[in-house]
Amino acid sequence: MAEWHGDCSRGSNREGHQHYSDDKSLVRSRQATSSSSSCTGDGRSSPGGEGKWRDVDTASCCLLDDLKKCHKKLGRLNFSSTHTVLVDVSIFNASEQLQPQDGRDMWHKGFVKMPFSPLSVVTTKTGLRKQPTQVPRWEIISKKLDGLASKKKRGVDDVVEVIIKCNPQYTDEWTFDALFSLVKCIPKEENYFDTLFPKIAALALSLPQHVKKAIPLLQTGQCTAITLSQVQISCLLANAFFCTFPHRNTTRPNAEYHNYPPINFNSLFGNWSDRKKEKLRAIMHYFNMVTDENTKPKGLVTFERRGLRDSELPSWRSCDEKLSRLHVTSKGNIEANSAGMLQVDFASRWIGGGVLGNGLVQEEILFLMNPELIVSRLFTERLADNECLIVTGSQQFSQYSGFGDNFEWAGPHNDKLKRDEWVRLQRQILAIDALHFKYPRDQYNMIKVTRELNKAYCGFKGHGDGEPDIATGKWGCGVFNGDPQLKAVIQLMAAAKAKKGLAFFTFGDEELANGLKQIYHLLVTEKMTVEKLYGLLEDYCAVQQADSHVDLFKFIRDNIRCSRSQL
Ligand code: APR
Repeated sequence: MAEWHGDCSRGSNREGHQHYSDDKSLVRSRQATSSSSSCTGDGRSSPGGEGKWRDVDTASCCLLDDLKKCHKKLGRLNFSSTHTVLVDVSIFNASEQLQPQDGRDMWHKGFVKMPFSPLSVVTTKTGLRKQPTQVPRWEIISKKLDGLASKKKRGVDDVVEVIIKCNPQYTDEWTFDALFSLVKCIPKEENYFDTLFPKIAALALSLPQHVKKAIPLLQTGQCTAITLSQVQISCLLANAFFCTFPHRNTTRPNAEYHNYPPINFNSLFGNWSDRKKEKLRAIMHYFNMVTDENTKPKGLVTFERRGLRDSELPSWRSCDEKLSRLHVTSKGNIEANSAGMLQVDFASRWIGGGVLGNGLVQEEILFLMNPELIVSRLFTERLADNECLIVTGSQQFSQYSGFGDNFEWAGPHNDKLKRDEWVRLQRQILAIDALHFKYPRDQYNMIKVTRELNKAYCGFKGHGDGEPDIATGKWGCGVFNGDPQLKAVIQLMAAAKAKKGLAFFTFGDEELANGLKQIYHLLVTEKMTVEKLYGLLEDYCAVQQADSHVDLFKFIRDNIRCSRSQL
């Protein structure tokens, strides 16, 4: 467990204003209505009978509209010892203009090592006697980028030449077949890449003019935040495209950034597949938007690392909170249906997971639709069990269809969300990494259950009032092999402790949706508390270890009353 330093609240200069009543823990038991309330399904009258759900069995759920979508009144943009702002806050507060904050280069382990740092040097042999001399790497990089940027049209060969020039040691290792195939296979009318490559090069070249203040690393155990402009993010990602970030290409255990996910895009450019084609289409669309004056984004984005000190971890056996509000639906998905809520990213502890590789499930899709999220990999150290990352203000540039191997980039998305006082789009994403169970039975263990409760609570709890409710789903139940019923109950408990409402999108899983509505209704009518549920889970895990698989929802139904009689 990472030791926590600093107090998250100290670094924040945000007063909260409630837009909604704060009787968050009060659950309104709603008479089942024939409306489209998702908790009564699509309003169909249920067939009733054993094993079938009836409207009255699910009456405790709420409507999505009943959940809190709010945005705090932020006040003036300001920096602090735990919040670094990469734009000039005085100019911003006076005029809302975004100008880079001055600062000096920090070639230091607590900061991002920038490609243009004068301390980023390479040794070359020059002159007649081939004397080894040290040359600033940026001299070489900027010359190559300038050459690429100076032409109207450039091909993949030119891009590869720049990337390899910046990383000569990987000449024989890195492959670019995916980039070549993309340009070859995209229909001519959509194929704008040869005019786009020079623009990305120009954007990468402008990094020193846009990012002047050193970027601190969001390190494990540190409760810190970074706010930067969408333009600054685009310059950083343009450099990631050309793989210019130094010291970031090895993940050897003793490598300097071994605890950070890769940021350079080289792994995106090799191993051609349909997945890579669709991923690259989304990435190239992003660069097409941010290199065009008419569509260049003009806001700020905040990346905030949060964590719980040991003293803040709930003692789950003595939490008398009742369940908070729950909305369940098998329709839609988190990002499309919960604007204004805190949207859960089913994350990897290496933020972004396989977005630059072959991964293509919930987190990678989220990062491809909101590519600004990828820049979090530049400065976010691996998440510890008691940590999460919250990103406020990322823009959605694309839309998609399908999932995994069926994922397809489905064209541009026009993001119409409003911006807050810090000109950040009102989109908040919460990255929490579930445990990966090689064997599903390993999860039926109260140490693991408690770790998941703490992880979810860390993300859900927020900084006091004025924070939105949570939009989530089958967190940890896909690649990570989690039990959807157990994970749903864990998230319900964490939300109850955090006094937050929950919108649960089962992503087409009707059975889970119906089962969750029913069990929630039972728990609410039985006035179940978190501590009692924790006790039930302890019994459940014991049974699971002993016998063959028992459905958690069935176990709760069969044992809820005896758990009541024990307390
Ligand atoms: N909204 C709601 N539910 C979704 C969505 C969505 N947009 N996308 C997927 N789901 C559902 C699907 O049913 C999926 O099987 O969530 C389930 C879990 O999704 P996964 O991405 O597999 O999540 P998880 O099991 O936590 O695996 C996380 O995968 O993407 C990588 O980097 C990530 O390493 C991490 C791992």
